[in-house]
Amino acid sequence: MKAVKHQKQPAPAQISWEQIVANLEDGVVTVDSQGKIVFFNEAAEILTDVSSVQATEQPFRQVFKSAPWLIDLANKTAPPRHEGVRGEGDLVTRWGRKTPVGVTVSPLQDRDGHYLGTILLLRDIKHRKELEEDLKRADRLATMGTLAAGLAHEIRNPLGGIKGAAQLLRRSFDEQSQLREYTDIMIREADRVNQLIEQLLDLSRPAQLMLAPINIHEILDDVLLLEGQTVSDKEIAIKKIFDPSLPPIRGDRVRLTQVFLNLVKNAFQAMDRGGALTVTTRLETDFHIRARGTARNRLIWIDIADEGSGIREQDLPHIFSPFFTTKNNGTGLGLATSYAIVKEHGGLIRVESSEGKGTTFKVSLVVAE
Ligand SMILES: Nc1ncnc2c1ncn2[C@@H]1O[C@H](COP(=O)(O)OP(=O)(O)OP(=O)(O)O)[C@@H](O)[C@H]1O
Ligand SMILES: [Mg+2]
Repeated sequence: MKAVKHQKQPAPAQISWEQIVANLEDGVVTVDSQGKIVFFNEAAEILTDVSSVQATEQPFRQVFKSAPWLIDLANKTAPPRHEGVRGEGDLVTRWGRKTPVGVTVSPLQDRDGHYLGTILLLRDIKHRKELEEDLKRADRLATMGTLAAGLAHEIRNPLGGIKGAAQLLRRSFDEQSQLREYTDIMIREADRVNQLIEQLLDLSRPAQLMLAPINIHEILDDVLLLEGQTVSDKEIAIKKIFDPSLPPIRGDRVRLTQVFLNLVKNAFQAMDRGGALTVTTRLETDFHIRARGTARNRLIWIDIADEGSGIREQDLPHIFSPFFTTKNNGTGLGLATSYAIVKEHGGLIRVESSEGKGTTFKVSLVVAE
C-alpha cells in the first residue's frame, strides 16, 4: 500500500482573531480610552490612504481630522453614555479622494463594563449611493418624459401654425426685400424648437434598439476618427488603451455611436487649452458590480478620460439632467440622451471629475453571450 503523506492543515484554532479582522472587507479601527488608535486593518488603510503603521498610536482625532462628523460620532460612545451609534458621511484622503462610508461606532468594554475605548466599523457605500442616484435620476427622467410628451403635443400644433404663417409671409415679400431675412429667422427658429421637441421625445420614449453583437473598438475608432478631425488644430493627443481580448458586446451600433460621440465631443470641448484624451476598454473585475447582474451578464467598461476643465462639484448632480448646460451654445441634452441609451442597454454611466484637472466618464455594457 502506498503511504499517503498527509499535508498538515492548520487547525481552526490557529487562525487568530487578528487575522480575521485584518482580512475583513469593512474597515475596522479600534481606539483606546485615551483616544489613541490601537488597531487599523487593511480595509481602513484603503479607505483612508493611511497605513496601519502611520495610524497606530496616533490620536484618532488627528488621523481623521478631515472627517469632523466621524469624530463627533465617536465621541458619542464615550462615557457616560456607553451607547453604540451609526452614521454616514464622506472620508476624504489627503490626496482628495472621497469615499462615502457608513459607520457603526460601539463602545469597547471589558466583562465588568469598564470603558476600554471605541471600535469603529467603516463600510464603503459608494456602490449603494450610486444605485440610489441611478434610481432618483430614472425617476426624474420618467416624470420629465410624461411632462415632455404632453408639452410636445401642445407646442407642436401652434408651432406648425407659426411656421406656416411665416412661410406665407415670406412669399408675399419680393426676393430683394430685407423683410425676408426676418421671416427666414422665424422659420429657422421654429425648426429649431421642433428639433428640440423631437430630442426631448426621444428621451422620454427611447427608440427600439436594434441589438446585435458589436465590437466596441470599431465604434470607438470611428468616433475618434470623426471627432479627431474637428480638433486637429488644437494641441490634443488621443490615446487608445484597448484590451485586444475584449469580447463583443450586445448593442445598437447607431445609438452607441451617438453615446460615444457625445462623450468625446464633451471631452474635446472641455480641453480648449489642449491635453490628452485617453480611451480605455477593459473587462469588469469588481465583484460588487458583477454580483449585481445575473450570473451570465459579464460587463465591459469603456473609460473616456480627458484633461479638461473638470466639472464643478455643485454641477455634478445635474449633468445628466435634460437641458443642464454650462456652455453658451449647448442644449444640455448630450448626457441626458447618452444616459437614457446606456440604461436601455442595461449598462451604467459613472463620472469622476476633479476641477481644473479633468473628467473621466465610465460606461459599462453587457457582453454578448
Ligand atoms: N468632459 C467634460 N468636462 C467638463 N464638463 C463636462 C464634460 N462633460 C459634460 N460636462 C458638463 O456637463 C454639462 C452637460 O453636458 P451635455 O453633453 O449634456 O450638454 P452640453 O455639452 O452642454 O450641450 P450639448 O451636448 O447638448 O451640445 C456640460 O455643459 C458641462 O458643463
Ligand atoms: Mg455635450
